[in-house]
Amino acid sequence: MLSISGLSKCYKDKHALENVSFDLDRGEIVALLGANGSGKTTTVQSICKLIEYDEGTITLDGEPTHSSNAYLQKVGAVLGGSRNINWRLTAKQNADYFARLRGFSGTKIHQNINELHSALGLDEHSKKEVMKLSTGNKQKAALLCALSYTPDFVLLDEPTLGLDFQTVDDLQTIIKQCANKQNQGLLITSHDLAFIENICSRVIVLHQGKLLFKGDVSALKSKMYKYRLSLQLNDRQQFPLASMQSLWDGRFAITENPETQIVDVHFETSEQSLKFIHHIHEQKISIAELKIAPLSVDEAYQALVKSEKQ
Ligand SMILES: Nc1ncnc2c1ncn2[C@@H]1O[C@H](COP(=O)(O)OP(=O)(O)OP(=O)(O)O)[C@@H](O)[C@H]1O
Ligand SMILES: [Mg+2]
Repeated sequence: MLSISGLSKCYKDKHALENVSFDLDRGEIVALLGANGSGKTTTVQSICKLIEYDEGTITLDGEPTHSSNAYLQKVGAVLGGSRNINWRLTAKQNADYFARLRGFSGTKIHQNINELHSALGLDEHSKKEVMKLSTGNKQKAALLCALSYTPDFVLLDEPTLGLDFQTVDDLQTIIKQCANKQNQGLLITSHDLAFIENICSRVIVLHQGKLLFKGDVSALKSKMYKYRLSLQLNDRQQFPLASMQSLWDGRFAITENPETQIVDVHFETSEQSLKFIHHIHEQKISIAELKIAPLSVDEAYQALVKSEKQ
C-alpha cells in the first residue's frame, strides 16, 4: 500500500499542500480532484519524487520511500502531457528507454510494451518520432512509458488532456485492466468527471491545498442530495414556489433559474418525487418538461466545493 501522511509543501510563504493524508492500495483506481491550483500536481510530483516536500511521510508497504532505492521501480507517472519523453525517439524506443532507466529489460517487458502499443492504437505510427505525433498520440506515448515496466502504482496527472472521445474510451479500458488484471493501484487527476465516475471507486478532493473529502464515490454523492428534479411549467404563476415547498418532506432544496424559469428540486428519496408528480397530476398543473435524475459525481463535487467556499 502507498500511504501519504501529513504531506505539506510551501512555495515561498504560500501553502501548496497542507497536511494531506490518504492511502492507495494495489488494484484500486482513485481520483484526485480539485479546482485549478488546489495541489493535485504537487501531490503527484511529491509521490514520484520530482519535488521535495516540506513535511509528511510517504511509505510504500510500510517502508519510507525517501530511503528506498527500489521505490521508483514500483511507481510510474504521466505528468504534464508528454514533455518528459524524448521527442527524437519513437514511442516504443521511449518506452524501452524508460523501462531500462528503471532497471527493466528482456522479453517480458518487450511483450508488455508491444501489447500496450497496440492497445493504445499506436501501431500505425510506430515509425514516427514522438515530435511528429499529434498531441493525443504524444500523450499516449507518455502513457506507454509510464506503464512499460508494469509498476505497482501508476500516477496519471490529467491523462485525458488532448485525447479524442474514442481514445478516452480506450484509456478507460486500459486503466481498468491495469487495476483488475495487473493489480496495479492508480491515482488519477482529471477535470473530466464523467471519465472519473466511469473508472474510479474512491475519490480524494483537495481544496486550496487541504484535504476536503476522501471516500467512496457513493459517499461523496450521499454527502449531497441524491436526486434532482427539473421542472419547467407552461404557466409559472400556476404553481408558486411557496406551494411547491409544502410538498416535500425531509431534506430538500428548491432553486429557480430566473432566465430559463426552470425550477430545480434537490432531494433524498425517490418516493418524494412520486408525491410531487401525483400533486401535479391531481391539480392539472400544465408542465412543459419534467426530468428526474440521480445526481452525478460532477454535481456532488461542484456542490461540495461550493459549500466549502461559502
Ligand atoms: N514551481 C512552483 N512555484 C511556485 N508555486 C507553485 C509551483 N508549482 C505549483 N505552485 C503553486 O502551488 C499551488 C498548487 O498547484 P498545483 O499545480 O499542484 O495545482 P493543481 O491542483 O495541479 O492545479 P491544475 O488543476 O491547474 O493542474 C498553486 O497555488 C500553484 O500556483
Ligand atoms: Mg495540475
